[in-house]
Amino acid sequence: MKILITGGLGTIGSCLVAKLYKDGHDVIIYDNMEIGNKNNLEVYLEEEQIKKIKIIRKDILDKEHISFAISECDMVYHLAATLGTLNVVSQPSRMLNVNSMGTHLIADLCVAKGIPLVIMSSSMVYGKNDKKSVTESDDLFVGGNVNVGLWWYAISKIADEAYANSLLLENPDAKIMIIRPFNVIAPIQSHIVGFVFPRFFRAAYLGESLKVYGDGNQRRTFTWAPDFVQCLLLLVEKNLWRRTFNIGGTESITILELAEKVIEISGSSSQVSLMDPQDLFNGQFVEIPHRVPNVDYLKENIGIVPTTTTQTMIENFNSFYRNKISKSDFDLSRY
Ligand SMILES: NC(=O)c1ccc[n+]([C@@H]2O[C@H](COP(=O)([O-])OP(=O)(O)OC[C@H]3O[C@@H](n4cnc5c(N)ncnc54)[C@H](O)[C@@H]3O)[C@@H](O)[C@H]2O)c1
Repeated sequence: MKILITGGLGTIGSCLVAKLYKDGHDVIIYDNMEIGNKNNLEVYLEEEQIKKIKIIRKDILDKEHISFAISECDMVYHLAATLGTLNVVSQPSRMLNVNSMGTHLIADLCVAKGIPLVIMSSSMVYGKNDKKSVTESDDLFVGGNVNVGLWWYAISKIADEAYANSLLLENPDAKIMIIRPFNVIAPIQSHIVGFVFPRFFRAAYLGESLKVYGDGNQRRTFTWAPDFVQCLLLLVEKNLWRRTFNIGGTESITILELAEKVIEISGSSSQVSLMDPQDLFNGQFVEIPHRVPNVDYLKENIGIVPTTTTQTMIENFNSFYRNKISKSDFDLSRY
């Protein structure tokens, strides 16, 4: 198949692109390289393989180019978005435009042309739901002041889900699948916009303090990108269109425990520093105390769930960072 992947140079995208390429598909990446980088593909593919992949360096809001790219393909994975705390709170109107208008545009084009589409929502759509684990049929609500910047990301994704579902209602043959990822990580993930794994490893290897927000007792589930991609591809292979799935790991860890493990494994002299994130993000931050997925529906449908342990993810990040570091920030500037 000829498959278009928007955001194909990002954390999830580069892993997905590599797998689809290796499975023999004709892969086209559509990415403005705002965050993603061509070098991210090198983690998964040889130089000769990368040369065979077409990369369109354009913005998804560029209607002419995205329309043409979609018209040329058999299927679309839409991953491009503005995400990461810093990115979201520093350019909120741009984020809302990219995440909502961009997704609506792509969904309209795919439905009009009868092209199957996978869109990425987010675990953030569960807002402040404090259930032990959240499931697809749970109510979606942000549960906080909607005038605080970080909620706008959740709202953009809820709007995407609503739009996709409205198209499904109006178009009984349309093929759209909605995915809610839970903290999907790979060592190439950028620290710049605030993701915690790269932020902690980078700080540990540079001897800087690991900034933990609040008391560090917030609990998260992390998901290894190749596991995520394996589940995603099975959902598509099984033609589970017109449905919504959580994809996430089955373990959880507090952020303070994570910081301590990173310091220990890297042998760093760094210290943990507890801080109020509102000082960093100009009052636009929201904390989710507990975010763990229920993945029963995923398992019921494809027979597997992501299984890489948090400890293995920590070890993989450590190997990657240990190889990159040479006592200067320069070598880590991309990560
Ligand atoms: N990684 C996670 O934990 C996670 C969690 C929840 C939801 N998601 C969703 O999954 C998708 C992929 O996430 P990721 O972690 O790979 O993100 P990422 O930031 O690593 O990758 C996103 C890619 O999209 C590109 N991009 C951004 N804006 C664009 C635009 N306007 N036009 C074209 N390209 C653009 C970036 O350059 C980047 O390569 C996103 O929709 C995100 O909201 C991810």
